[in-house]
Amino acid sequence: MKRVFTSLFTVTTLLCMVACGGSQAELPDYLNPKKDIEVRIDDAMSRMTLDEKIAIIHAQSKFSSAGVPRLGIPELWTTDGPHGIRPEVLWDEWVQAGWTNDFCVAFPALTALAATWNTEMSALYGKSIGEEARYREKDVLLGPGVNIYRSPLGGRNFEYMGEDPYLASRMVVPYVQQVQKIGVATCVKHYALNNAETFRHTTEPVVDDRTLYEIYLPAFKAAVIEGGSWSIMGAYNLFRGEHACHNDLLLNKILKEEWGFDGAVISDWGGTHDTREAIKNGLDLEFGTWTDGLTMGKTNSYDLYHLADAYKKLIESGEFTTKELDDKVRRVLRLMYRTSMKADKPNGALVSDEHIAAAYTIGAEGIVLLKNEKNLLPIDLSKTKTIAVIGENAIKMMTIGGGSSSLKVKKEVNPLEGLRKRVGKDVEILYARGYVGDTTSVYKRVDSGQRLADDRSEKELIAEAVEVAKRADVVLMFGGLNKAKKQDCESTDRAELGLPYGQDQLIAALTEVTDNLIYINISGNAVAMPWIDSVPAIVQGWYLGSEAGNSLAAVLVGDVNPSGKLPFTFPVQLADTGAHSMGEFSKDGEEHYGEGLLVGYRWNDAKDIDPLFAFGHGLSYTTFEYGEATVSRKKMSRDGSVTVTVPVTNTGKRQGKEIVQLYITDCQASVMRPVKELKGFAKVDLAPGQTKKVKFEITAEHLSFFDDKQHAWVAEPGEFEALIGAASDDIRTAVSFTLK
Ligand code: GLC
Repeated sequence: MKRVFTSLFTVTTLLCMVACGGSQAELPDYLNPKKDIEVRIDDAMSRMTLDEKIAIIHAQSKFSSAGVPRLGIPELWTTDGPHGIRPEVLWDEWVQAGWTNDFCVAFPALTALAATWNTEMSALYGKSIGEEARYREKDVLLGPGVNIYRSPLGGRNFEYMGEDPYLASRMVVPYVQQVQKIGVATCVKHYALNNAETFRHTTEPVVDDRTLYEIYLPAFKAAVIEGGSWSIMGAYNLFRGEHACHNDLLLNKILKEEWGFDGAVISDWGGTHDTREAIKNGLDLEFGTWTDGLTMGKTNSYDLYHLADAYKKLIESGEFTTKELDDKVRRVLRLMYRTSMKADKPNGALVSDEHIAAAYTIGAEGIVLLKNEKNLLPIDLSKTKTIAVIGENAIKMMTIGGGSSSLKVKKEVNPLEGLRKRVGKDVEILYARGYVGDTTSVYKRVDSGQRLADDRSEKELIAEAVEVAKRADVVLMFGGLNKAKKQDCESTDRAELGLPYGQDQLIAALTEVTDNLIYINISGNAVAMPWIDSVPAIVQGWYLGSEAGNSLAAVLVGDVNPSGKLPFTFPVQLADTGAHSMGEFSKDGEEHYGEGLLVGYRWNDAKDIDPLFAFGHGLSYTTFEYGEATVSRKKMSRDGSVTVTVPVTNTGKRQGKEIVQLYITDCQASVMRPVKELKGFAKVDLAPGQTKKVKFEITAEHLSFFDDKQHAWVAEPGEFEALIGAASDDIRTAVSFTLK
């Protein structure tokens, strides 16, 4: 400890001298914020001992790695998660430390952000969560997650941005840029092919190069190249014989060579399994290793990590030089100079009004109106006396649980509270539980304070709900999933597409007594709706975080006109998905992604299967009309572009936003290509009667597929079609052109 003080004293003195403008010695480069980062790294490295180099490339506690105390270089602190800043945990534990100053704002789950199809929302999200991380003095945010939604059973889909690589690629970039603007690194995850949970440590996805490059890599590539993410997290699974956390193909060849990634590769917690592979195959910072393999290991075993004593021994034995070590140290120091050592670090903010407003705004903009017969929605409060609210998901806290994205919030407004607050005294709101699902309320010692135990029988619960529904003008049922195991939860996948806890029976009983049932699905995944024809209005309500109830109430009563669209397909049944009819899902060992490129709507198009609700589907309280698409030229040169223009008009009575989607069809491909692929979208805000000309510039990049023989993106000459639609199953106009 004394050593630490001496060195810190030295550094402090040096800094004071310079601060006072003293003519004494200039600050050494590694401490001089005026010097270029690369110069500072070189200087720091020249001063570091072997032990100090080894120390900074692996964890020293559950979520931190060492600095260089002797040189006054601070520790590096990471934090979960993608939706908000995890409460402080004990040094070497997963459980919270019980601080009283680490309550946060829970922002909407990333599927809800993706559902906004609005990159401005993504920027607002990144800015807000970045400020919370900075205030909590965290240097690396372990998020966002951008794994592709391959199956509606995927346990962590709620943390990701849907089934389409183009949508996820566009939405992840502003989030990364804004978080990093404040000097916090993003750690985009889980790279790559972590699309299932139950066997995530031992599964080995099998995909060909075209599927890898066209479906599963683009969002990571965008986050790294356009977003400039300063770190990336290796996934648990294996790929082509090596764990993703030390995988030569994924980390050295693709990430660092092809994409030019200059940041640090951080392992998932417990994702490192082999010392020599960890040295050679691109891992830079090892976290969470359990020293006796993948079972829960000893505590404070940090010297036993692969990139710790074991590595040092291999250098001392001469099996390895310091070549790989120096690259790892350089990357970790670069991460530090961008974050912990950043000179003009702003303070950030925690649970500010702006962050609460951001959670509300993003949430309201992500809600998707799936069905609205008889214009049941928005609820007209002037004509409504009594509203029945049914369902556990109207009251259950959803910011707790679900795995590492679990949070300790300052406040979470649930749907029932949000409605009560919004409608006030004018309207009576009745409540009935309807069903009992997950009654746990504690996760890693974070206690929601809710006591949800209820030993009534299903029959009694349904009877009570029916009685309440009979007395109401409008019945709102909040159902769906939750953050319990086998629901929307890390480390387990769902067992079925259908709603759990007997909700289907409840809905059937409710439709017997009311024609005005509105079902709000609180989930991060698609669910089966066998009762769809008897429910006139359906809303996808997501996990919206701290402001959930306020965002939902605003849309349900019409303060906000819903403008979200689905970032993934709702299949009628599992067999209607590629993963479950042609692939394997959630398997130990080899897991064949037999559907290949045909993920989500690509499968529906290929097999001509109608979805329950399509990718890109979402209604509004107004209506929009699309005019004829025109193209700037019929022949496009290889390095040129064409502009497709389509007039969109708000033909309804109220302002609304419309997400106009551009899909491309390659009419003369020499290889199998999906029928159409999303290659553009624009969200336009239109007043009643207003028309805007929406323009899409199309370049060869939008027309390309990945040619695994040439190992390059290729746009073949020939005819293409630009399809403009309000959803993937709702193409309004099309225009063709030729690539020369
Ligand atoms: C978990 C998750 C990862 C998380 C990390 C730290 O196992 O896979 O997303 O950031 O460990 O909690």
